[in-house]
Amino acid sequence: MLVVNDLCIYTKDNRETIVQSVSFTVGDGETLGLIGESGSGKSMTSKCIMRLLDPHRFGITGSVRQNGEEILSGKLPRNFRGNRIGMITQNPMTAFAPMIKLGRQLEMGFDTKGRTAKKEYYERLDEAFKSVNLHDMKKIVNSYPDELSGGMLQRVMIALTMMKKPELLIADECTTAVDAASEYMILGELEKMKQCGMSMIVVTHDFGVAARLCDSVTVMKSGRIIEYGRTSDVLGSPQDEYTGQLVSASVMFREDVC
Ligand SMILES: Nc1ncnc2c1ncn2[C@@H]1O[C@H](COP(=O)(O)OP(=O)(O)OP(=O)(O)O)[C@@H](O)[C@H]1O
Ligand SMILES: [Mg+2]
Repeated sequence: MLVVNDLCIYTKDNRETIVQSVSFTVGDGETLGLIGESGSGKSMTSKCIMRLLDPHRFGITGSVRQNGEEILSGKLPRNFRGNRIGMITQNPMTAFAPMIKLGRQLEMGFDTKGRTAKKEYYERLDEAFKSVNLHDMKKIVNSYPDELSGGMLQRVMIALTMMKKPELLIADECTTAVDAASEYMILGELEKMKQCGMSMIVVTHDFGVAARLCDSVTVMKSGRIIEYGRTSDVLGSPQDEYTGQLVSASVMFREDVC
């Protein structure tokens, strides 16, 4: 279980508040949606939980507990990133080291010593790649990150996360850079992970995705939570005017497109 309590993030140079008093809980096997306008603090909240914010640049107060253990401060627990919490980042271009071929980067954290272990690892990788519509594993592992498109890199990240099976997965707009067929497959894989009992935080602008995957949703605006509740309640009968506007805008957009 993940419990975020009174989380605040501010910049140290000009003391600008980015996230203010954010609190929510993700129960075991539950999926929480983080929705809200661009710049509302969804990615910063996610990066903070993943301990990816530079402590020289950002001040952080509050608490984030995973299974009762404080993870916001102190020594980073062993195997924290990847195994305890996995994240599919919004910007796949910055998720990999640019000078190292993807194959070498992906092997990190897996036991690939010896021929059998290596063979088994690459069979699993191939299977994970295929499930997100990537069909040329050899080419991908022999590429540098900038030789792949953003959507391909995003799917490589998703495949890696699926193999690591973290206790909690944070998916930050993980289908924004991909085509419709790949999006369909990725959402199917997220659903499978959910069915296997993985807890998830799904950051999305897409209310259809939230309705399909999330048990509860948190609506953010200007760094604050303005509405939090069961997905059907929040999307079905929003209490906050801003949430209502977002839901109507989403419905109108869908009607315009369809
Ligand atoms: N590295 C940074 N330094 C200073 N401010 C930042 C930094 N990254 C983000 N911000 C600011 O924090 C606020 C929240 O940004 P964040 O990326 O969390 O938004 P978001 O809700 O994820 O938006 P989007 O839907 O566009 O991804 C924004 O005002 C942004 O300008
Ligand atoms: Mg974001």
